[in-house]
Amino acid sequence: MRIDKIVVPRWFDRHLHIRDGEMMKTVLPCTLNQRATGAIIMPNLADPITSIEKAKAYRERIIHVRDSYNMDLEGPFGVPVLRDFVPCMTCYLTDNTDPEEVVRGFEEGAWRAVKLYMANQKGQGGTTGSAHGVRNLLGRYPVFEAMEKHKIPLLGHFEAVEEDVDEFDREIVSVERDLKPILKSFPGLPVVFEHLTDGRAADFVAHCGCCDEHARLFATVTAHHLMINRNAMFWGGMNPGHYCKPVPKRETHRAKVRQYVTSGNRRFGAGTDSAPHDESVKSRCYGCAAGIFTAPTAVELYTTVFDEDDALEHLGPFLSENFLALYGMDVSSETMTIERTPMRTQEKIGNVQVFKGGTELPWKLVG
Ligand code: NCD
Ligand code: ZN
Repeated sequence: MRIDKIVVPRWFDRHLHIRDGEMMKTVLPCTLNQRATGAIIMPNLADPITSIEKAKAYRERIIHVRDSYNMDLEGPFGVPVLRDFVPCMTCYLTDNTDPEEVVRGFEEGAWRAVKLYMANQKGQGGTTGSAHGVRNLLGRYPVFEAMEKHKIPLLGHFEAVEEDVDEFDREIVSVERDLKPILKSFPGLPVVFEHLTDGRAADFVAHCGCCDEHARLFATVTAHHLMINRNAMFWGGMNPGHYCKPVPKRETHRAKVRQYVTSGNRRFGAGTDSAPHDESVKSRCYGCAAGIFTAPTAVELYTTVFDEDDALEHLGPFLSENFLALYGMDVSSETMTIERTPMRTQEKIGNVQVFKGGTELPWKLVG
């Protein structure tokens, strides 16, 4: 039966970059207009969020931008802006992070989770803003121990960062070398595998632990990784707009990840990893910045994927329910409505190119 309209609880973005300053003013309205009840805010600013003080100040700046919109006016994309959006902060883990500060920040509500980026021995990170990340993972075990005790989620960018690892194997190498030992050493630590792309990693997440009820390993999946494979970076010429970390993988991996997601596996949830970069930084010949900007149409993109797989009944849990409790969020009692109405996406928001910008999507979030 063809479904033309679906109503689901308002959703939650489990992985979002909104930057700071002018860029934040430009991009935050996109997520507000998408009816999100909140988002896990990534801490990889130029000056990373490594302390309670910084997290609290960043949260204040976000709330200030959020509240500076006039609620009575329509938002820029035709949906009224909401002011109840909850910015859920994260702590950027470094080699120097003090376990006690992590726990204190969690207890004071400064952050709800810890974000793990890794850097290699030369201090090069594997993605945007990760150069301050962890070089010595074993050295961080005292932090993980404290987090396990207090049930503070670890949000991991699991990609090997050594120069000589093949770009398309970075994720699976990190699963074997980094993730598995962490899970083994800290059986009570909740872990979210961020922006999962590799089918083998998806198998691991889906089958980790004794049963779904006792699962403590989950994964966020982006809309773009459900839609494109690695060809999209190269087809018709080099396409920096499709370059992000982790890089999209070969088709078999995309299909495998997508199968878990659209079959309704509860261990997978929406996290856009929407990562805005100014056009000038994305269009460099060498050193093009990693990140894809999906915030303006995230709900429509995910809906399109589930519809294509005849799986709209699983869209609501993926967007709005799966493992939200981990972040201290409830399933929203409010709903949002998505209709089968063609919608042309904007090409750019400010100077940021939008994923699939200028094309038509078959679904529209209408309220
Ligand atoms: C993100 C960014 O730009 O901050 N980039 C990306 O390619 N996904 C960082 C990240 O999540 O890796
Ligand atoms: Zn990210």
